Amino acid sequence: MTQMKAIVKTETSFGASLKRVPVPTPGPGEVLVKIMATAICGTDVHVYEWNKWAQGAVKSLPRVMGHEFSGEVLELGEGVKNLIKGDRVAGETHIPCGKCYQCKNGLQHICANMVLFSIDSDGCFAQYTVIPEICARKIPEDIPWEHGAMMEPLGTSVRAAQEVVPAGANAAVIGAGPIGLGAVTALKALGAARIIVSDISDDRLSIAAEVGATHLLNPLKEDVTAKVMEITSGVGTDSFIDASGSVRAISEGFRYLRKGGRVALVGLPSEPISLELGPQVIFKEAKIIGIHGRKMFETWTVMENLMAGGLLELDPIVSHILPLEDFEKGFSLLKEGKGCKIILDPWQEGQLPTLQE
Ligand SMILES: NC(=O)c1ccc[n+]([C@@H]2O[C@H](COP(=O)([O-])OP(=O)(O)OC[C@H]3O[C@@H](n4cnc5c(N)ncnc54)[C@H](O)[C@@H]3O)[C@@H](O)[C@H]2O)c1
Ligand SMILES: [Zn+2]
Ligand SMILES: [Zn+2]
Repeated sequence: MTQMKAIVKTETSFGASLKRVPVPTPGPGEVLVKIMATAICGTDVHVYEWNKWAQGAVKSLPRVMGHEFSGEVLELGEGVKNLIKGDRVAGETHIPCGKCYQCKNGLQHICANMVLFSIDSDGCFAQYTVIPEICARKIPEDIPWEHGAMMEPLGTSVRAAQEVVPAGANAAVIGAGPIGLGAVTALKALGAARIIVSDISDDRLSIAAEVGATHLLNPLKEDVTAKVMEITSGVGTDSFIDASGSVRAISEGFRYLRKGGRVALVGLPSEPISLELGPQVIFKEAKIIGIHGRKMFETWTVMENLMAGGLLELDPIVSHILPLEDFEKGFSLLKEGKGCKIILDPWQEGQLPTLQE
């Protein structure tokens, strides 16, 4: 085992290639993981397409792509204390420094010197990867590999759902992509009464219904605010989670949010957003929180408990499981809006071997 298959970003242009590269060696404090399942995320699409964000964020190439994974610990680097060979793990993407103010005060997920797995280091669209011990989260035996590979994005959704205090409440979720859908199932698991989901795609809305949405709204077809007011008897929602990044939809959310309501912002708008602070935030006493990933590791614990209790509906969110070789198909499906969560299996032989040395 000296060589492995990996999807590598080599050029500062569109695309990536399937290559044979050396299996990485774990350094001090790192572990070598055999990847059992890995998932494509919007961030990977940015890097694949080499958009403006990727050009600024990825400092050097070549880079093995991919950051969402589950797998088995194969080798321990020097000084690794908390994992043993054979442990089943899922990847946490936020690599904390352990030394800054945030790290010393329980906020290591927003470390001031945060290094991002797969952006600042090689990632996991491969048969093996190396990751710092702290970011290899040991997961329970009964979590299937596919679900394990979804835990990193799902943790962001679970966190957003927790932050809006869902029990017994009427919550709205804007955007039914993998993040919004994860928020829907988490809201349901945490006891939300009504879960109103809006998306411009009817296909995505139908997945939302499968994972727990009680009301589906398509802003291209109906007046979302009017419908929300009808559903909530004129009060407005107790909260909304944005998982769309749509400036228009976020602004509308502040209109149908009830006074004293909570907002969790997860989606990344591509442009600044303006709010009328008086009516939409101050007099409303809106409580707004930005969400950047998962708390390390309180969110992981809650997520694992919910998964162990069978409370999260994850299978409808997975649209495809493809061999690593079919990565181009995976990226196209996402681009065409035909896929949702796409999982890559590094050990299944594919149909399109374009392996390069
Ligand atoms: N803050 C974080 O830590 C974090 C982590 C992961 C992803 N994100 C961001 O979260 C967002 C969602 O991620 P995803 O992977 O689910 O993306 P996605 O693109 O698959 O999903 C976004 C969904 O929003 C829908 N949408 C677009 N315009 C809309 C509108 N006006 N009203 C309602 N829905 C609308 C789209 O149809 C799509 O289904 C992205 O902006 C992503 O960058 C943030
Ligand atoms: Zn991701
Ligand atoms: Zn730090």
